[in-house]
Amino acid sequence: MQITIALAKGRLAEMAEDLLERCGLDVSELREDSRKLVFYDRKNDVRYLLVKPTDVPVYVDHGVADLGVVGKDTLLEAGRPLYEMLDLRYGKCDICVAGYAEKKRQEITSAVTRVATKYPRIAKMYYQQKGENIEIIKLNGSIELGPILGLSDVIVDIVESGRTLKENGLSVLETVCAVSARLVVNRVSLKTKYEAIAPLIAKMKEELEAEK
Ligand code: PRP
Repeated sequence: MQITIALAKGRLAEMAEDLLERCGLDVSELREDSRKLVFYDRKNDVRYLLVKPTDVPVYVDHGVADLGVVGKDTLLEAGRPLYEMLDLRYGKCDICVAGYAEKKRQEITSAVTRVATKYPRIAKMYYQQKGENIEIIKLNGSIELGPILGLSDVIVDIVESGRTLKENGLSVLETVCAVSARLVVNRVSLKTKYEAIAPLIAKMKEELEAEK
């Protein structure tokens, strides 16, 4: 019974490959320098898809992929009904509200806080919980430019080392939540392919425990 695993391209994919390898899967095709998007471990009957992080929840939700490895930030933003099975504990960072530190913020005159972000859903949920009315400005990258150019008052973004904020004169103002890579599973696949999926999850869990 073949299982398909969707991996978020980039840093998370490399870390996922290492973990899968330690679990006995062959990830050598994934490591080849190629432009392919579909890879196989024929011995273990596993197919891998290398996709954009934001597309991992889409592939898993539609059942095209049975499993996926993606950041919690992407999962929260997608809001899809997937089973989150494991915290893989790598790719750790925080989702934060950032902007100019207090002194400069007093100069902000807009009535409604303008929030630039590539995470509109997360930002909306966060400010709703706080009972604050905001205006969301959706950006797709270089979010830090928002407050710098006066497009927004603050940003909601991921902060890993804090270097991007620091080098742009901005600071963390509030922490929304901590995020890390997660293993997600399609709800139907977990039942129909239980015999193939459950041992892999168990093995991954074992490897993560051993790492502690
Ligand atoms: C992310 C995020 C920050 C930066 C944080 O951007 O949006 O800009 O990383 O990392 P740091 O705290 O270690 O500096 P990404 O690299 O994904 O690029 P983007 O601006 O195109 O979204």
